[in-house]
Order: sequence, then structure tokens, then C-alpha cells
Amino acid sequence: MSDSRPIGVFDSGIGGLTVVRALTHHLPHENIIYFGDTARVPYGSKSPQVVRDYAAQDTDVLLQHKVKIIVVACNTVSAVALDVVQKRSRVPVVGVIIPGAEAAVQATKKKRVGVIGTVGTIKSDAYVNALRQIDPSVQAFSQACPLFVPLAEEGWTEHKATELIAKEYLFPLTLEKIDALILGCTHYPLLRNVIDNTLHHAVALIDSGEATAQAVAVLLEEQGMKNMSRLKPNLQFYVSDVPHKFTDVGERFLGQRLGKVHRVPAFPA
Ligand code: DGL
Repeated sequence: MSDSRPIGVFDSGIGGLTVVRALTHHLPHENIIYFGDTARVPYGSKSPQVVRDYAAQDTDVLLQHKVKIIVVACNTVSAVALDVVQKRSRVPVVGVIIPGAEAAVQATKKKRVGVIGTVGTIKSDAYVNALRQIDPSVQAFSQACPLFVPLAEEGWTEHKATELIAKEYLFPLTLEKIDALILGCTHYPLLRNVIDNTLHHAVALIDSGEATAQAVAVLLEEQGMKNMSRLKPNLQFYVSDVPHKFTDVGERFLGQRLGKVHRVPAFPA
């Protein structure tokens, strides 16, 4: 059995390309369609109701492309609107929260896990609840790090300013003696080095996108939904604003050339 329909991935903007990067690593033969809602990014500072409305529209964009599965790359959407996507979709839906929380539970020995993310993700307590559900003996400590998103997009991944900001954000977590930290935002894998240095290499860093790509690979295998073709896979990128910045910044997030980026019509206000 072979299923050549694309994997659909959506995000609030550019960040989800880190999840596409992980998917291409674990599933190198899959066709992928990506939609980034660049006209309305960021989602992390918006109210859950607004994010839920956007998530419904983002889902419809992917469903129009006859995808075989929807991967919600955006942590904020996964945290506050996964049920909206699931309700709308006839195909399986995978968010980043459960895979990220499962990987953290496996990594922690002291049962003390930190979570960092956007304000929306942290306020929702989605990771904290998932950790508790998977292992009630795990204690979770969370911290919103809103400045990390613009710093990653700016390319300030090794910058002094980023080091100072990371110290400020992560200090309260070091007091809690965590030994695993969930990078609960699409952008944070780009800041991995700064975060690792700030924590003196003493904390296991969990990339929720990476954990999600592994979960998607397992699911496709189990459901007999993998693409068995060995032709070069097709990666297609759609955005809701003009694609200039997406192309420039996106290649750093994706780790390879993006090729052509298409704009889809703006959403109704
Ligand atoms: N993609 C978002 C997330 O992972 C970060 C950017 C935003 O705030 O929209 O939560």
C-alpha cells in the first residue's frame, strides 16, 4: 500500500518550517504542503478565541489540497485549538503538545520538567496538563519567552542580547532544578545553543517539533499511509502575505532552499 497524498502542515507563519525540517528528516519520501499564516502572525500573543478562528481557516486551506494528515506545527494552536482542527478534519490530526510532553517524560530523571513557549501556550497550561496526564509524579514549571520569536527571526541566534534575555527568562527555571526543558515553540530550536549554554549543558532540551515528526512517522507506518514512491518528493509552500520575508528567513528555519512560495488569497476579516 502506498499513499502519495501530501502531509499537510500549518503554522502561524515561518516557524513551522522547523517541523517540516524534522519531517523531511524522518520521512524523506513524503510530499508535504505547508501553509504559514504570515498575514496574521504572531498567534502567540493573541486570545484563544482569535487563534481558534484562525486555526479553523488554516485547516480549510490544507483540506482543499487533499492532504492525508494534518500536522499542527504551531505550539500555540496545538495548545488552544487542537480540538477545532480535529472537528473540522476528516483526516488524522497531530499536534506538537503530546509528542513533546511524552519525550520530556522519557528524558527527565528528577521528574522536574521546564516548559517554555509563547504567552498563549504557557497561559493555556496545555503542556503542564499533558505532562501530568502522562506521569502524575512529574512536576512542571513554565515560563513564557515572547522575545525569543523575533530574535530567532532576526537571526540573532548567537547574539549577546539573546544571551542576556535567555538568562533573564531561564533563571527562574534553574532555581527549580529541572533536568528537561520542552522547547514549546516552533522558533526555539534555532536558539538551542544559547539555551543550552545558559543552562550550562545540564538540562535535556526537548524539541517538540522533532518529537512530533517521529510521532507522525509511527502513525503513517501503523496506518499503512506511507508514500512508497522513491521519486523526489514535492514540497510546496503557501503563505497568506507576500512571500519575500518568508523566503529569506524561511531557508534558515528549513535548512534547505525553499523554491517557489505561493500566496493564497487573504482571509475574510
Ligand atoms: N508558531 C508559534 C508557536 O509555535 C510562534 C510564533 C507565533 O507567536 O505565532 O507557538
